[in-house]
Amino acid sequence: MKTDLPQSFRRLEYLPPNYTFGQVELDIALDPARTIVKSHIEVLPGVNHEQDMPLVLQGHELEFVSLRINGQAHRQFELTPETLTIHALPEGGKKAFIVEIICVCIPEKNTSLMGLYVSNGNFFTQCEAEGFRKITYFLDRPDVMARYRVTLRARESECPVLLSNGNLIATEKLPNGWHSAVWEDPFPKPSYLFALVAGKLECIEETITTTSGAKKLLQIWVEPHDLPKTRHAMNSLIASIHWDEKRYGLELDLERFMIVAVSDFNMGAMENKGLNIFNTKFVLAQPETATDADFANIESVVAHEYFHNWTGNRVTCQDWFQLSLKEGLTVFRDQEFSADQMGSESGRAVRRIEDVRLLRQLQFPEDAGPMAHPIRPDEYQEINNFYTVTVYEKGAEVVRMYQTLLGVEGFRKGMDLYFKRHDGQAVTCDDFLAAMADANGRDLTQFKNWYSQAGTPRVKVEETYDAKRKEYQVTLTQSPAKPGDQLFHIPLRMRLLTAQNDQAETLLELTQERQTWTFSGIASRPVLSMNRNFSAPINLDFDQTEDDLLTLFSSDDDAFNRWEAGQKLAMQMILENRLPDEALIKAYRNLLTDPDLDPSFKELALTLPAETYLYEQCKSVDPQKIYAARRAFRHAIASELGIEWAALYQQMQAPGEFSPDAASAGKRALKNLALSMLLEADPAIWAPMAVNQYQNANNMTDRYAALAGLVIHGSKSANACLEDFHQRFADEALVVDKWFALQSSRPPVAHMEPTLNEVKRLREHPAFKMNNPNRVRSVIHAFCLNNPASFHQADGSGYAFWAESVLALDPINPQVAARLARGLDRWRHFAQPYQGHMLSALKQVAACETLSADVKEVVSKALAS
Ligand code: TRP
Ligand code: ZN
Repeated sequence: MKTDLPQSFRRLEYLPPNYTFGQVELDIALDPARTIVKSHIEVLPGVNHEQDMPLVLQGHELEFVSLRINGQAHRQFELTPETLTIHALPEGGKKAFIVEIICVCIPEKNTSLMGLYVSNGNFFTQCEAEGFRKITYFLDRPDVMARYRVTLRARESECPVLLSNGNLIATEKLPNGWHSAVWEDPFPKPSYLFALVAGKLECIEETITTTSGAKKLLQIWVEPHDLPKTRHAMNSLIASIHWDEKRYGLELDLERFMIVAVSDFNMGAMENKGLNIFNTKFVLAQPETATDADFANIESVVAHEYFHNWTGNRVTCQDWFQLSLKEGLTVFRDQEFSADQMGSESGRAVRRIEDVRLLRQLQFPEDAGPMAHPIRPDEYQEINNFYTVTVYEKGAEVVRMYQTLLGVEGFRKGMDLYFKRHDGQAVTCDDFLAAMADANGRDLTQFKNWYSQAGTPRVKVEETYDAKRKEYQVTLTQSPAKPGDQLFHIPLRMRLLTAQNDQAETLLELTQERQTWTFSGIASRPVLSMNRNFSAPINLDFDQTEDDLLTLFSSDDDAFNRWEAGQKLAMQMILENRLPDEALIKAYRNLLTDPDLDPSFKELALTLPAETYLYEQCKSVDPQKIYAARRAFRHAIASELGIEWAALYQQMQAPGEFSPDAASAGKRALKNLALSMLLEADPAIWAPMAVNQYQNANNMTDRYAALAGLVIHGSKSANACLEDFHQRFADEALVVDKWFALQSSRPPVAHMEPTLNEVKRLREHPAFKMNNPNRVRSVIHAFCLNNPASFHQADGSGYAFWAESVLALDPINPQVAARLARGLDRWRHFAQPYQGHMLSALKQVAACETLSADVKEVVSKALAS
């Protein structure tokens, strides 16, 4: 066992910087094997400055070459693997001075994909959160905001395109086939928003005019063969720009805005000022290669990164503990944008259901496990581990609660004040809350607890109805996740459904531990619709009768709660190992045949709660039991509604040319659920129809759905179709990812060998690459994180594979390895023999002497739980 304790960073230990930077000039000569970085930095004393304080710069995996101060070689410095400390500053550092540093980095050896790296022969950077220190020595912290002027140099034949943040100032031909470009960003920014891109890329471009009449150049840069797949991303960008002007009065502040796609990328995308860099997965789409879900994801990620230009870049974070200040707010903004793009109220509701489903499937488990943290964490060892669903998705729910409490207009007033006060600053979550409170004259003191307490609060509902007095009472009791925690300020939308339909929706504000509300003049016992539209991210403890749930499922006018009632009925029955009873089947049938309901809503209503969400309802999880109970329930829905599924499969066909709009996508979703249900009921009978759909589809949604249906239901035709799919799309990396992911996420099938054997073969496939995150995620993460029934085997084979994979990935890419390492977080929550096998796998990983800080934090917190 190693004894050195990992370093923890604490929120309350924040100190403003001793020095800050004014103008920063970078001169970067790009060479995959040896890139030379020269920096020329104007250093100023910071608010915390004291005479003779040294200047401590961060630098990681750099080769130091030279240091000058005010033009003179400077020798009073020390180097450690993480820092460059400069002593004996001119006049003790109390006046501005110039630091010049030369250093070298090696992009082609950089597999971590943080800092400067090479992908398919082109250069890219990723600096958030602490990657800039892998490019040069710097005050690499978000509260140091500087102006950048960047000169890029490269061999013109290898790198015809040279991009950085801001505006292009000059280009020049240089001797020996080199050339250069100078970029200037007029807005001060923290180092994490720096970016450069260089290589053989091409773009589509568009010029638009903003509300104020300014012309803006928009570009999307990709490898030349991908140009035909950029239209949808461009349309999404234009729609985002218009939406932010209209909804928040926020305009694009640069003359030029660029998006670049790269196939080696640790996450989804990055909001570098004026030069967003994206995982290809969130840029490239054509109907033949991308599913409806891919199109929707591209729209929302493009919007997300664009919206960061104001919420993140113009107003940034004081320190990384404030990450949710930009991420929670920006996710909320992209959710609202995407909902508006649906073009109807029912479309908005569908998006809301999808967002909440994600939150509960991923964030609720995180919040109940060893990595639980408040949306504003108090402590971290490795900041990269805190780009979590809690910071992002729960953070967005907290922002949404302001809007619920203050109204859409009140929220807008708060946003306006936030920008008025803090444009150009690095601020905290408290500043955001203060702007919301002050703009609306509201006391939000208690609301602050959402930022400081982890865990999902529970709210218990008790109701009484007095028929004689025609009085209805509801009593709510809140319990924060940890005993001793402060009470929350919880906005709960509710409505009483009555025979007279005479009760309006109201907003209850639960601020005490226990509160009662009385409603009078209620003629008959009402049905309570509580936490409508999921107004608060809580667990509701409410023993509503199955009759009441059926009423809500058939007639609640809040689409979210209508869906929720169906989920709750199914969940309760699955957990009790029951099959759907006659009443529920009838409700399903009515819903499926209701001509007034959106197909996409029907699809959501008939999709069962995910296994991982069912786990959350158990004291001790037996994954195989849950899988079997859920599957049996699904089988019953499939066979009892056989006629309806067959009819829907026909009715939802949309012959003719493919159209990507929301209504058509909804029809496809329901049609493909119907296909999957038919295969569930009888794979032998329906396989030929699925094969037919596979072969004749004119779009990826239909082709992939047919293929997935065949694979998941263990059809004999699956292999031939898989083979065909691979050949057809061998040159389309993102489609090859789908091919891998589908096979790795196949649940157990009775007559087939375990999926793990297949996964091990896929890992040896010539197209598998351990240093491409998308490929790794499509095989290893897909199996360990998205295929619970195959992963959780009683012999522990899945966990052994997990340990081996984490250890193999860690030296290549710690961030991607740490994400995988999260897979055994909840080991204590599982029954034996699973728990015992998980513990040994965790110990095996923890015993490695050379673990990255990323993986070490994850496994040590799991073991300590
Ligand atoms: N800030 C980015 C976003 O939310 C995500 C991000 C953070 C990121 N760190 C990263 C992306 C590292 C890639 C690599 O949009
Ligand atoms: Zn973001």
